[in-house]
Amino acid sequence: MKQAEKEDYLQNYDLLKKRGKPFFPYAVLKDASMMLVVFVVVAVMAIVLGAEQGPKADPTTTTYVPRPEWYFFFLFEVLRVLKPPWLVPIATVGIPTVAIVLLLLLPFYDRNAERRPERRPIAMIAAVMSISAMAYLTFLGASAGTPTEIDQPAPPGTEAGLQVAAQSGCLACHKIGENGNDGPGPELTEIGDMLPRAAIARSLQVGPAIMPSYAELPPKKFDDLTAYLAALNGNE
Ligand code: HEC
Repeated sequence: MKQAEKEDYLQNYDLLKKRGKPFFPYAVLKDASMMLVVFVVVAVMAIVLGAEQGPKADPTTTTYVPRPEWYFFFLFEVLRVLKPPWLVPIATVGIPTVAIVLLLLLPFYDRNAERRPERRPIAMIAAVMSISAMAYLTFLGASAGTPTEIDQPAPPGTEAGLQVAAQSGCLACHKIGENGNDGPGPELTEIGDMLPRAAIARSLQVGPAIMPSYAELPPKKFDDLTAYLAALNGNE
């Protein structure tokens, strides 16, 4: 800031200070009454509406779809988009930490005394861009396909089997294309090229190692599922 500007600013500040009201009790009273209002509203809502608790936790489920609270959807989306494992710490710890440190240091590197938004183009562009990016990521995260969806076309005629695979929790342990977890089970993207349909069906009935048995699936679903897996050859 230039010297003249600074003196001008301090003069104005002095003037306003003399004209204004002291923080205590005026501002304190205002804040305290607003806090009381918010507190009463939250208390009344808690008593009248109660809190939604959802279904009881089931520790044996293999098809649970973990989702964050909505205000974490933007981070969740960043994690979803960054596939390589070495990028994950950067997304979960690195980027948020850098953003918070930048915000904390703002008073030190932004020495501009100007308050009008239109005279602060850099700060305004940065703010609008961060908010838009977060809003966009939140939207993507909220509308993202769940781990119980297989986001790639099924080989012709096996659409029903894709749905069975998606809803049976296979993606918790297997990868199909870009969907699902890489392990503990082997990738299934080209399973049709590696195993004949009968062998796939046997794997599903037996449930090798830690894999659960899917022998209890209704026969139609079981057939759809094996048809789908047998047709997976990585050409889609
Ligand atoms: C709890 C984790 C888990 C789930 C859920 C699971 N699997 Fe598996 N699956 C495995 C593991 C681990 C293996 C490898 C077992 C072994 O070493 O023999 C395997 C093996 C297989 C194989 C044999 C692959 C090969 O190359 O021999 C097929 C096919 C298969 N799974 C399909 C499925 C399908 C389809 C589903 C969903 C209906 C499913 N799995 C669900 C863990 C799982």
